Order: sequence, then structure tokens, then C-alpha cells
Amino acid sequence: MSSTQSLYRPGLEGIIAGETAISSIAGGLLYRGYPVEELATRANFEQVAYLLLHGEFPTADELAAFNQRIAAAADLPERVWITLRNLPATTNFMDILRSTCSLTAHFDPEVADNTPGATLRKAERLLAQLACAVGGWERIRRGKNPLPYRADLGFAANVLMMLRGDTPTADEARALDVSLILYAEHEFNASTFTARVVASTLADLHSAITAAIGALKGPLHGGANEQVMAVLTEVASPERAESWIKAALASKRRIMGFGHRVYKAGDPRAKYLKPLCARLATQTGQESLEQMADTIERIVLAEKGLPPNLDWPSARLYHYLRLPIPVYTPLFVASRVTGWSAHVLEQQAHNRLIRPEARYIGPAERQLK
Ligand code: CMC
Repeated sequence: MSSTQSLYRPGLEGIIAGETAISSIAGGLLYRGYPVEELATRANFEQVAYLLLHGEFPTADELAAFNQRIAAAADLPERVWITLRNLPATTNFMDILRSTCSLTAHFDPEVADNTPGATLRKAERLLAQLACAVGGWERIRRGKNPLPYRADLGFAANVLMMLRGDTPTADEARALDVSLILYAEHEFNASTFTARVVASTLADLHSAITAAIGALKGPLHGGANEQVMAVLTEVASPERAESWIKAALASKRRIMGFGHRVYKAGDPRAKYLKPLCARLATQTGQESLEQMADTIERIVLAEKGLPPNLDWPSARLYHYLRLPIPVYTPLFVASRVTGWSAHVLEQQAHNRLIRPEARYIGPAERQLK
């Protein structure tokens, strides 16, 4: 008997689709065994990126060398910049990142080399390049020139500087840093699974990451953080929040930033980020946005039993950092490329072609007339 006749779950819900040593979510989110809350409190994004890609937390020397490699790789080939400049300024930002990832492949000297060393080197280069693409495209679409990565700033500070054009405060850089740590890895989510499916065919890293970016774009996945800000903008004031959310739920509207396939009792990343959001709101005099979010949160929990996911506070955090909405999901990419690459490396190390079966529900066998 075919296995599909005995086991079928739409959306693969509850199905163990592979093994991983990169992160676990049962009983709290751990990256390679470390609680994400501890990493967000005591580490920076570069250390977490190293941990995910190399498997162990870096020593001071390893981190310094890693930072040097990132700074050295942090630019796009000139012909990629030229191509980006020739694209319409209205092009969707996630489409830009997907194309950039694909285009950089043509210039990577190790593009077709799937050995672990080459894949790791490509992953580090892509991490640096995609951050530059996020900052660079934001400038290009506004008619400005991309700004170069600065070796004297950390990764998060660089991303903010390349996006906004100014040097961020230490608090601002740390706030983005924490959000990048929380976004970096999340087991077999849709985009990571996409990357693993592509890697399982023995295609290269750039192909896997390009596909993953496409999967992340959707509003049920990474695209949700942009939709969250659209909702908050639509609600507009704390006074309107209660009536707005009640009407939205009554009309069966899906509220972006709430619910999760695996965290039914709450997303630990959202809980971690919320106080940081509140602090930034106070610093920037935008407490009313927090009040609005609190009201919506309380009512969605009471009426639907749904707690917020990471995208709910992330959207506000990026707003407080003075970032425009189209940059929100690209920032997810700038971070998650570490998790995706770690999964590609893991898939390549223990590869088996991912090829499930389908349950056929079409017409019974028939003949042409
Ligand atoms: N707003 C309103 N109702 C919801 C929501 C929501 N955000 N999420 C789930 N529900 C309802 C849904 O309508 C259904 O109700 P009913 O049983 O009455 O038909 C019930 O809850 C179960 O929903 P589901 O779609 O079967 O649950 P799922 O586990 O497949 O969905 C989800 C997970 C993330 C797709 C969904 O919660 C959702 O669409 N959320 C909004 C999009 C979002 O915030 N995505 C980001 C996810 S976290 C970051 C990431 O990984 O990208």
C-alpha cells in the first residue's frame, strides 16, 4: 500500500519531515541548544550568525575573523548594481532581493561547488551581500547612491546606516540587532523547507536561497510583518482599536501578526520583543501605538484565543527605527539567510531527495473520445 493512503495532513501539519541539529522549538526556541532569549540578551547577531553557520559559538578570534570576512564581502558586483539601477523603482522589494540573490550567483567564483567549505564561504558572502542589497535598493529606489559597509560598525548598525543614511545610536542598533537574532532561524518553516527541498536535488546554495526568498515573501509567512504595519496604520488611533478589531474579527478577517502553526500558546520571540518595543515607543514618544497594539492583542486573544507572533512587535520596532514598511520583510531575509544556509549545509551533509507523494483526487482513468 502507498504510504499516502495511510498518512496525509494538509500543509504537512504535525509531520516530522526531517531531522535537524540547528534549532528546536519544543519547550522554547533553542539555536544549537542555546535559548534564543539568552542569545538575544547576551550575544549579538554576528555571533548568532556564526553559531548557526559554523555550529559553535565563536571565540573572540573566530568572531573577529568572521567580521572581517563579512566586511570584505559586503558589496555587490558592479554589474549587479547596474542591473538593479535599471529596474523600475516601484519593483517589489522582495522581488529585488530574490533577483539580487540569483544575479550574484553568476559572479560567485564557487557557485557550482557544493562541498561544505565552498557552501559555507558562499553563505558568508551572501549574508554580507544581501544586507548591502537591502540598504542599497532602499537608496536606489529613492534616487540615491548605495552607501558602503563600514568595517568600524557592527552588522545591525551597518544595516541601519545603509538604509537610513545616518549613523544609528547604540540603542537603535541594539534594537535591530535583537530583532535580527530573533528572525535568524526557525526550524522547518515554509521558506527553510523550500531551501532544503532545493538543496536535496543537489542544486547549489544560491538556487536554494533564491527559492527561499520567494517563499518568505508571502503574507502568511515573512510578508506578515509589513501587513501588520498596514493594519496599525488603518486603525490609526487607540480609541478606534477596539471597534476596529471587533468588526474585523466579526467579518472573519485574518489579522496579520497573530496565530502560528506551531506555537499555539504564544510565540516566545514575540514575548521577548514586546518590552523592547515599549521602551522604544517611550523613547520616540509613540506610546499611543503601543496602546493600540495592546488593545488589539487583548481582544484577539479573548475572542479567538490567538496570541501574537514575532511579526506583531517586529513591525512596530521597525517603525520606531524610522524604517519604511517595504523594508520590513527584506530585513527578515537579511537575518534568515543564516538559518537557510545552515539548513542547506545540513541537508547536503545528510542528503536524501525530498520527494513526497500526493493523494490523487482527479477523474478516474478514462479514454479520449
Ligand atoms: N486572524 C484571524 N483568525 C486566525 C488567524 C489570524 N491571524 N490565524 C488563525 N486564525 C483562525 C483561522 O481562521 C481558523 O479559524 P476557524 O477554525 O474558525 O476556521 C483557526 O484560527 C485556525 O487557523 P489555521 O489557518 O488553520 O491555522 P494555521 O496553523 O494553519 O495558521 C498561520 C498559521 C500563521 C498561517 C495563521 O495563524 C495566519 O494566517 N496568521 C496570520 C499571518 C501571520 O501572522 N503569519 C506570520 C507567521 S509567524 C512568522 C513566520 O514564520 O513567518
